[in-house]
Amino acid sequence: MPTLTSRHMPLFLLMLIVALTACTAPTSAPTGNNAPRQWRIGMSQANNAEPWRQAMNDQIAAAAARYPHIRIEFTDARQNNAQQVADVETFLQQGIDLLIISPNEATPLTNIVAQAFQRGIPVIVLDRKVKGDQYTMWIGADNRLIGRKAGEYTARWCREQQRSPCNVIELRGLEGSTPAQERGDGFREGIAGNPDVRIIASQNADWLAERAAPLSRAMLEANPMVDVVYAHNDPMAIASFTMARDLGRDPDSILFIGIDALPTPDGGIQAVRQGQLDVTYVYPTGGAESIEWAIRILERGETPPREVILDTEEVTRANADALWQKYGGR
Ligand code: FRU
Repeated sequence: MPTLTSRHMPLFLLMLIVALTACTAPTSAPTGNNAPRQWRIGMSQANNAEPWRQAMNDQIAAAAARYPHIRIEFTDARQNNAQQVADVETFLQQGIDLLIISPNEATPLTNIVAQAFQRGIPVIVLDRKVKGDQYTMWIGADNRLIGRKAGEYTARWCREQQRSPCNVIELRGLEGSTPAQERGDGFREGIAGNPDVRIIASQNADWLAERAAPLSRAMLEANPMVDVVYAHNDPMAIASFTMARDLGRDPDSILFIGIDALPTPDGGIQAVRQGQLDVTYVYPTGGAESIEWAIRILERGETPPREVILDTEEVTRANADALWQKYGGR
């Protein structure tokens, strides 16, 4: 085995320096000072298996595609609070720069959202709310206002149709989700002006058409005199219309009201155009806005407003064609 003598030292040192330099040299070409930073955004969705939530995800993905340096990952909690908590925990373990969340129910998701926020991760809450103020911003439409508009429409319609009493059945969204509460409360404010309007039955169908169908059957069978069906979203309203027709009731004698107004073949605007629903309300997803705000927070260091309230529109037979065009229906 060769021994190192003082004669070999300069050569040995040179080799050592060369070896060390090779180890620490960058393996890829430098990106330059102006290359944008890569951002990792986690999007925690309450339930992909609903058309309106799929539209939200599509709008987020389309908006994010305009920024090649954003990487966005979606999770689907399948309407399960524990799953959604676990989804956010996984994001936190993996490391994200910003969290977007549309929480399934408010109370069970409040703590994990607060944890993310307290770690300094900006949190954008979309559509459904959490409790307290431990998040960066909330983006969504005013559900109480939408409920009130639906109630006022009902009060007016009942008066014009001279329905006295005017019997309403209500199909509610998932009870622990804030839009269900707000759409219900707003509706009650809206009908207050007409004492003939009475809510004779109210059931929770969890936002789902497949739950709304049997509940509608039970409520319609128990109540031969139903004047209005107020459903907290379009899938439940359309399911109720179909059930009324299948039961041999004249659906034209009942006012069917929904909410969402997606411009899709199965969506609410088309249902109004085809005469299944009488009224629905545009409930924008906020998907594109959430990405705009993510960029403004991450890249420009802006402090966003606590709330961004999105506009709604009432869709009736009078304007459904125009709104179908306006929202790019297809
Ligand atoms: C989908 C949905 C929509 C509704 C929204 C309320 O899960 O039920 O139909 O407008 O959630 O959060």
